[in-house]
Amino acid sequence: MSHHNDDLDTNTSSNPEMTAIIARRMLLKGGAGLAAVSLFGGLAGCNGDDVGAATPNAISATPSSIAPPRATTLSFNPVAKSVADAVRVPSGYYATVLYRLGDPIAAGVAAFKNDGSDDASTFALRAGDHHDAIQYFGLGSDGKYSASATDRALLVMNHEAITPSFLHVNGQTVVNGVRTVTSEVLKEFYVHGVSVVEIVKQNGNWIYKQDSSFNRRVHTLTPMTLSGPAAGSRQMITKYSPTGVATRGTVNNCAHGYTPWGTYLTCEENWAGYFRRTTTTDNVKRTAKELTSFARYGVAGAGRELWATPTPDTSDNLYGRWNAEVIGASTDGSDDYRNAPNTYGWNVEIDPFSPTSVPKKRTAMGRFAHEGAWPAKAVAGKPIVYYMGCDSRNEYIYKYVSTALWDPLDSNKGLAAGDKYLDNGKLYAAIFNSDGTGRWVELTFNVGAVNSGNPAYAFGDQADVLINARLAADAVGATKMDRPEWGAVDPFTGAVYMTLTNNNSSLRSLASTDAANPRHYNDARTNGTAQRGNPNGHIIRWIETEPAATSFRWDVYLFGARSTADATNINLSGLTADNDFSSPDGAWFGANGIFWIQTDDGAFTDVTNCMLLAALPGTVGDGATRTVANTDATGATKSVQTYVGAAPGTAKLKRFLVGPVQCEITGITESPDGKALFVNIQHPGEDTPVSDLSNPSKYPSHWPDGGLARPRSATIVIQRDDGGIVAA
Ligand code: FEO
Ligand code: CA
Ligand code: CA
Repeated sequence: MSHHNDDLDTNTSSNPEMTAIIARRMLLKGGAGLAAVSLFGGLAGCNGDDVGAATPNAISATPSSIAPPRATTLSFNPVAKSVADAVRVPSGYYATVLYRLGDPIAAGVAAFKNDGSDDASTFALRAGDHHDAIQYFGLGSDGKYSASATDRALLVMNHEAITPSFLHVNGQTVVNGVRTVTSEVLKEFYVHGVSVVEIVKQNGNWIYKQDSSFNRRVHTLTPMTLSGPAAGSRQMITKYSPTGVATRGTVNNCAHGYTPWGTYLTCEENWAGYFRRTTTTDNVKRTAKELTSFARYGVAGAGRELWATPTPDTSDNLYGRWNAEVIGASTDGSDDYRNAPNTYGWNVEIDPFSPTSVPKKRTAMGRFAHEGAWPAKAVAGKPIVYYMGCDSRNEYIYKYVSTALWDPLDSNKGLAAGDKYLDNGKLYAAIFNSDGTGRWVELTFNVGAVNSGNPAYAFGDQADVLINARLAADAVGATKMDRPEWGAVDPFTGAVYMTLTNNNSSLRSLASTDAANPRHYNDARTNGTAQRGNPNGHIIRWIETEPAATSFRWDVYLFGARSTADATNINLSGLTADNDFSSPDGAWFGANGIFWIQTDDGAFTDVTNCMLLAALPGTVGDGATRTVANTDATGATKSVQTYVGAAPGTAKLKRFLVGPVQCEITGITESPDGKALFVNIQHPGEDTPVSDLSNPSKYPSHWPDGGLARPRSATIVIQRDDGGIVAA
C-alpha cells in the first residue's frame, strides 16, 4: 500500500475522540464443497444497436414485480480465506470479467496491449485504473432511465488512482524529481476519474458495448462547474476561472452516491496529495488562515504523481495547474493556481444519460476527503438527506439536509434537480455520546460554536465554512472516528451503517479510545509482528426518528477481528472462520436487505486476501452493553464501555468472495432483479516493484488475464449457475 497516502491524520484539533469484470468462465473446483473460480478475460465490444443520448428519467423504487423479496437467509456456503491469485465465489456461482483497465469504450479504439505502450491519447476512450464505486442505472428501450431494466444498463464507476508500475513500460519516468515523459503524465490524467459504459445481457452473460454513444470518460481534464454557496468565492479564483465558478477535472474518486433524479455523485477523497506546494517558499506568501487550512487538509509537498513538474508548461497550464504555490503577481490568485486545492474535495454530480453534460461540484455538501454520499430514502414533502464520511484517521461523519422538500415531479430533471436539492441545504457533523445517543451539529456561519469554537480560524462567510468544513467540525466538537469509509442505508429500517476501517496506535492512542471507537489492542500477525490500535476496524450504525432529525441512537454492528482473537476484548462480535474479516471499507445494501461488506486490508493479509461478505443485520440496540479492557504496548490499561450489536453467527454473516493477490474489493451494485452482482477488483499486484517489471514470472498477480500478463483492475459480474437471486 506504499503508493497510497490515504491514511493521513491532519486533525490536530483538541476534539476528544468522543464527546464527547465478456469473459469465458473457468470453474476450478476446489475442496471442502467450495468452487474456486479463476477469471481469465478476453472480451470485445458487442455489435448491438446504438441508442442516442436522451434526457434522464426518474430513479424510482424498483417495481415490486422486479425487486427480489426481503432476504431471510443467506443460502450459500461460505468461501474459505485464501491467498490464491484468483477470485473465489461460493459453489453454485460463477464470475465473469466485464470491464478491465484499458478496455476501449469507443468504436475504432484498439484493444489494450497491457504492456505500458498503448498510446496515451487513446486513454480518454479507455477504461480507467483502480475501479472503485459502481452504480447500475437501468437503461430502457427509449434510452432513458428504467428502474425495471434488468438486461441493459449504464454502469457508472469511479477510477480512484493508479498502479504506476504497470501503467507505463517501465513505471513512471522521473529524472531528478521531474516527470520528463509528458505522454506518461497525459495517460495518468485520463485514467483517473469516472467511466460511464453501456452494458447488456446477452445469452445470460453480461458484456459492455464498445460503441455505445452513452459511453463516456470523465477525468482530470474534464471541465466542471462549481455550484452552490462556495461558487464564485474569492477562495475559488484561479487563472482557469478568474470568477471562481469553474475548475478542471476530478481526482481520487473513491465511493459515490446517486440521486432520486437519476444522476451519479462521484466523491473526491484524498485529492490533497496531488497538489504541489513547497512550504519552504510558499508559506511566507500566505496568510495565517491559509496556512491553517492547508495544514488541516494536508496540502503540502511535491504532489504524489509529480504532475506539476513537466517543463515547459503548456499554454493552458496542464501541469502548472497542479502547483498550488503563489507564483503570480495578482492579489486575488487570478494569474496562478494558488487556490486550485479549494476547487477539489467535493461531491461531483454527473448525468450519465446526457454524455455532453458538464459535471457540477456541489459545494453545499462540504469539502473534505469525501469517501461517498449515501442517500436516505427520498420521501415526498421531506428533505433530501445524504450521509457522508471523511476518510482519514480521526476524521468526522457528516450529514447534508436539503432546504427544498422532495417533489417526485423532479425525478426526471437531471442536473437541474441537483441545482434545486444539492445547492442549498444544511451541513452537519456527528457527535457520538458515551451513553449510546448522538447528535448532528449544524455547520453554518455564525451558528452555534462554528465561529467561536476554533480561535485559530475566523470564518469569513458560509463559503469559507464549506471550503473548510473540517475546521468547522473541529469548532463544534465533532467526534473523531477510526477512519470513516463507506456508508449504507438499510432499505427496510432506515438505519445508517458506516465502516470505520481501522486506526493505529501512533495516531489514536489508548487514552483516546471512547465508546464509539472503543478498542485498542494488539492484532499480532502469524509471524509475531505487533499491529496495535484498532487494526481490524468496526462498523457503527445509527437510527434516527426521521432522516432530517438532529439526534440519533447508535451501536457498533460489527467488530473486525481474527476468529482466534480474545473473545472478551477483541473478537466482540464472535466472528468464526467462516466470516472473520479485517478493515471493512465498501458497504452496500441490496434491495433485498442483504448488507454487503468489502475489505481493503493490510492487517489480515498474512492469512487472506481481501474479501466480500454478505450479512443479514438486525437493528440498532439488538445487542448488549459491553466493557472492553484495552492494553497498549506499554502495558497501560483502559476500560471502555460500548454497545455491541447482536453477534451474527455464521448464519447471518458469511464470506461470499475472496479476491486475487494484493487487491482491494470495492464497489458493488446489482441488477434490479437481484440476479447479477457487479463488483470491482481494485489494484491486484499493486506492490510489484518496478525492478521486477522485466521479469513477469515475479509479478505477485496476473489477474484477470492470467499467464504472465500484467494485473489489471476490473469489474466482475457474479451470477448463480441456476439463474437465481444472488445470496438469498
Ligand atoms: Fe478510497 Fe476511503 O478509500
Ligand atoms: Ca474506500
Ligand atoms: Ca480504500
